[in-house]
Amino acid sequence: MPSIIYQGKRIQVRVGANLRRALLKTRCDLYNEEARLLNCRGNGMCGTCAVRVEGEVSPMAERERRRLGFWPHKKDSGLRLACQCEVLGDLKVTKMPGFWGQKTDE
Ligand code: FES
Repeated sequence: MPSIIYQGKRIQVRVGANLRRALLKTRCDLYNEEARLLNCRGNGMCGTCAVRVEGEVSPMAERERRRLGFWPHKKDSGLRLACQCEVLGDLKVTKMPGFWGQKTDE
C-alpha cells in the first residue's frame, strides 16, 4: 500500500487512488487561497490542484498536458495536476505558492 507524504502528514492509499481525492479525504490543504472554492472539482480544467510530485504516478495524459501548458503554468514546470494522477507508489508531494500553485521558483 503506497504512502504519500504531504504537509508533514503520511497518508496510506491503495494503488491507483486518485491523488486529489486522497489528499482532500484526509483534510489536506490542496488548494491555495480562494482556489479552495474556485476549482473545477477534479476535471483537469482549472489547474489549481497543481503540485510537485516525487515518486511514481500515472503518465500525463493530453488533458493534463494541455492545462499545464497554459497560463499561468509553464510547460516545463515539472508540476502535475493532482486530480489527474493515479498513485502508483510512495510519493512526496509539495504544494507551491500562488493561486494555482504555479510558483515553482519560490
Ligand atoms: S481540480 Fe481543476 S485541474 Fe485539478
